[in-house]
Amino acid sequence: MSEKKRVLVVDDEVNIRRILQAALDKVGYHTLIAENGETALNLLRSEAVDCVLTDVTMPGIDGYELQRAVRANWPNVPVVIMTAYGTIPQAVQSIRDGAFEYITKPFDLDAVKKVIKAALKGSESAHAPKAIGKATKTFIADSPQMQEVYRTIQQVADSRATILITGESGTGKEVVARLLHDLSSRSTAAYVALSCAALPETLLESELFGYVKGAFTGADNDKPGRFETANGGTLFLDEIGDIPTPTQVKLLRVLQEREIERLGANKPTQIDVRLVTATNRDLGEAVEDGSFRLDLMYRLKVVEIHLPPLRERKEDVMPLAEHFLAKFSRENGRVLTRVSEESLGVLLAYTWPGNVRELENAMERAVVLAGREDQILTLDHLPKHVKPAA
Ligand SMILES: Nc1ncnc2c1ncn2[C@@H]1O[C@H](COP(=O)(O)OP(=O)(O)OP(=O)(O)O)[C@@H](O)[C@H]1O
Ligand SMILES: [Mg+2]
Repeated sequence: MSEKKRVLVVDDEVNIRRILQAALDKVGYHTLIAENGETALNLLRSEAVDCVLTDVTMPGIDGYELQRAVRANWPNVPVVIMTAYGTIPQAVQSIRDGAFEYITKPFDLDAVKKVIKAALKGSESAHAPKAIGKATKTFIADSPQMQEVYRTIQQVADSRATILITGESGTGKEVVARLLHDLSSRSTAAYVALSCAALPETLLESELFGYVKGAFTGADNDKPGRFETANGGTLFLDEIGDIPTPTQVKLLRVLQEREIERLGANKPTQIDVRLVTATNRDLGEAVEDGSFRLDLMYRLKVVEIHLPPLRERKEDVMPLAEHFLAKFSRENGRVLTRVSEESLGVLLAYTWPGNVRELENAMERAVVLAGREDQILTLDHLPKHVKPAA
């Protein structure tokens, strides 16, 4: 028999400590308690602890300081933060700082148990060897803004925090979603992507949650949904701003309960999926006009990664252009790999409404049009609309 996992509960309210200790002991954990951050740190120094569940507001060392201390000294011990609804922005910051998850008070004991279970599971797999030599796509990030994006990706890749990627079309949202997966300890498990754009409600729901035979006309077999297929790995939902309200409710439930129910089934299945979503719509506006739920938005953007348009990060233009030239030259047996001063000026002056994708297309066109001997991109290779009117 395996030893009991040891959970440390930190809260200055005696009733909360009692309730949590009773509930966690009952499901088979050994629960330690501390009434403040100092006591918690002393316990961590003297006892084995597998997971910390801490309140935020406490006299002395508060929950966030405790979390940072745990991260610095016991990096393999996951920390779950309990916070009041009003302080979600700080909780989100704590996830960036490495907290495993946050729970809003008043909490539901079932939800607490599930999060603890997931946290303990995550800390086990964090020790598992990572896949090496994964075919991560080249990710160019020379500009200060994109370096900041890359730092955030590295920081949050391994947490199970839900991530919302925003940015205009063609800024690299899909690349970032994939990178989040490849840099995480889930990289050996599945990466599943689905675009929610223009999918009618019933089709979207059967794609997401799956169905059992006979759930509706045409359901001839049991079929797992994308959540199940992505179990243990990452699910990327693109164009999340487009999902219909009833599906939003179901998605919120899945995120809270960490379980899904196939259409027509009446038995939920536990799942462990890291959700990454993307949108080029402004979700805040969608919330205001009533087409998107506020509570779901909060759940989705525990961490938001915003990709600025290419015209606002000129430092990336040249390295991206050369990267694409090299790639398409290889594919097409050409030698066009460098950019002339004059054409660089043009590339920098243009506004790139289609962002990186438009630059990529322009470089592909240039390579295809280039002569076999051409090594340097000149104005002749560039499409007319990119060049300033003569
Ligand atoms: N930083 C980057 N480094 C290298 N390639 C990139 C980078 N950003 C984007 N790309 C390339 O640009 C193209 C567009 O990127 P992607 O499909 O991720 O954009 P998107 O934001 O998802 O666009 P949309 O909103 O239209 O779905 C892809 O071919 C991608 O590989
Ligand atoms: Mg995309």
